[in-house]
Amino acid sequence: MRKKVTVVGAGNVGANVALRVADKELADVVLVDVVEGVPQGKGLDLLQSGPVEGYDVQITGANDYEPTANSDIVVVTAGFPRKPGMSRDDLLIANHEIVSASAQQAANYSPNAILILVTNPLDAMCWSAYKVTGFSKNRVIGMAGVLDTARYRTFLGQELRVSVENISAMVLGGHGDTMVPLVRLTSVSGIPLTELLPKDRIDQIVDRTRNGGAEIVRHLKTGSAYYAPSAATVEMVESILKDKKKVLPCAALLEGEYGVNGLFVGVPVKLGSRGIEKIYELQLTSEEKAMLEKSTAAVKELVEVLEKKMAGN
Ligand code: NAI
Ligand code: 2OP
Repeated sequence: MRKKVTVVGAGNVGANVALRVADKELADVVLVDVVEGVPQGKGLDLLQSGPVEGYDVQITGANDYEPTANSDIVVVTAGFPRKPGMSRDDLLIANHEIVSASAQQAANYSPNAILILVTNPLDAMCWSAYKVTGFSKNRVIGMAGVLDTARYRTFLGQELRVSVENISAMVLGGHGDTMVPLVRLTSVSGIPLTELLPKDRIDQIVDRTRNGGAEIVRHLKTGSAYYAPSAATVEMVESILKDKKKVLPCAALLEGEYGVNGLFVGVPVKLGSRGIEKIYELQLTSEEKAMLEKSTAAVKELVEVLEKKMAGN
């Protein structure tokens, strides 16, 4: 029997996740959205690409969760994207309500699913979904680090004029301007990046990576990135469905690792059929630790707002 992936939110990221899952023939897809007709129309359109592209998966659209029953993975992209001048955090309360409601409903129909959160502010939305669903921590995972790392690798590939595939890198921390690209551990086929580029040029690339989402928002004006975000999400989906056990930077609930307790933060994890199968705790330098602490503090601030809201204050 084919695997089943539900994508909540049939907007830019959601529809492209559905397209990539189908293109790779990973699973049947159910698209869910509050807007009547949109998930049904996009679902049918995607389905009709099958004969041309050569995929046989089923793609359906719905405005309720019944058709999503027994999904293996639920990807939550529902919510508002950023507009120019907005930070990811401006989206906090509005998207908390959307993510909580959709994660809860999806969980009711697919109690054994693995949840992948995409909606921003990402790390806080993972916390919301974790709290409302009561899912075990290995089954609530946030997508951000794969995207941030892809941006970093892209800029490095352009700068060094080498294949992006040869660049091995990892961006940790929250999905925000305080994210932590680990320069010390970045290499090109094993050659340390620090031997290939001067520090000031690396700093510029790190800065561009940190602002990679905003750069695209400035171009688009009416929304945020979706091609690379959907590609990053589907790399995670594939690793889980095929039990590939890829080691990827993802938002995971930390319970003591990196000195963090009770927050979702981007760290290297092993993704397999059980979701997060291992969290890797790297030995960081004092400078890297300080950057990660700053990034974690930014996530904590948002979660505290949500905690107060959930407590009714
Ligand atoms: P979009 O506006 O194109 O799509 C969002 C969709 O969610 C819309 O179709 C809307 O009707 C739907 N929606 C709203 N409330 C809903 C509900 N209660 N149930 C089901 N569907 C609902 O936005 P886009 O570009 O797809 O982005 C989606 C989210 O993903 C945003 O919050 C954005 O900031 C975030 N994002 C996160 C990234 C990351 O790295 N974690 C990267 C890119 C986007
Ligand atoms: C991005 O990084 C908006 O979080 C989204 O493109």
